[in-house]
Amino acid sequence: MDKSVLYDLSYGLYVIGTEANGIPTGCIVNTVFQLTSEPLTIAVSLNHNNYTTECIQNKREFTVSVLTEKTEASLIGGFGFQSGRDSYKYENVEYKQIINQLPVLTEQAAGWMSCSVDQIIDVGTHVLFVAHVLDAERISKDEPMTYDYYRNVIKGKAPANAPTYHPEDDEDTGIDSYECDICKYVYEGDVYSLPDNWVCPICGADKSHFKRKQNNS
Ligand SMILES: Cc1cc2nc3c(=O)[nH]c(=O)nc-3n(C[C@H](O)[C@H](O)[C@H](O)COP(=O)(O)O)c2cc1C
Repeated sequence: MDKSVLYDLSYGLYVIGTEANGIPTGCIVNTVFQLTSEPLTIAVSLNHNNYTTECIQNKREFTVSVLTEKTEASLIGGFGFQSGRDSYKYENVEYKQIINQLPVLTEQAAGWMSCSVDQIIDVGTHVLFVAHVLDAERISKDEPMTYDYYRNVIKGKAPANAPTYHPEDDEDTGIDSYECDICKYVYEGDVYSLPDNWVCPICGADKSHFKRKQNNS
């Protein structure tokens, strides 16, 4: 089987937002799609291990903020490579809380929708949330970010929790990634081709602290 055919499927990129104990939280997904227009229903696939999954199972409501090509990589890094279990994801992000304290991005997004869960379908490693759309607002006319743009222009990858993750991704694309041995920040690309005075944007460590990430592990 040639699994690379699956790379030809098209997706967007989104922040799923929800709330637990009054604290907004959420994560990056590429797996939102519209199921029906009447009633207006969407689905999203979330990994069982994601904190966001646990929170939505309890709250049964979430939001979808549609990222754009202008969305900063640091936002995707914060929401897509860290867990709300041990980080406050909305700290440096412009957002507002709408009805029922649900968070939506107010910048770096084309728009948002709020959703109420109708069905929760266990699909093995992931949970499929089927939900109807309660409300939606456009924020900007910026071009929505596609998963293809994220991979090929921003040179971003998806972690193992993403349904579209494939261990052989790195071999196929030739994208290196280096991990800081102090704060675990991952630089996507060849850190040793950067200027000598480059430091980790999270903890300030110099390049000698960056080790090539082992793939397929
Ligand atoms: C480009 C990209 C796409 C992703 N797509 C999904 C997805 O569709 N479903 C999913 O469960 N996780 C996806 N992830 C991974 C989650 O965002 C990631 O595991 C996050 O750290 C979970 O945070 P949480 O524990 O706070 O929920 C994606 C990450 C990236 C960077």
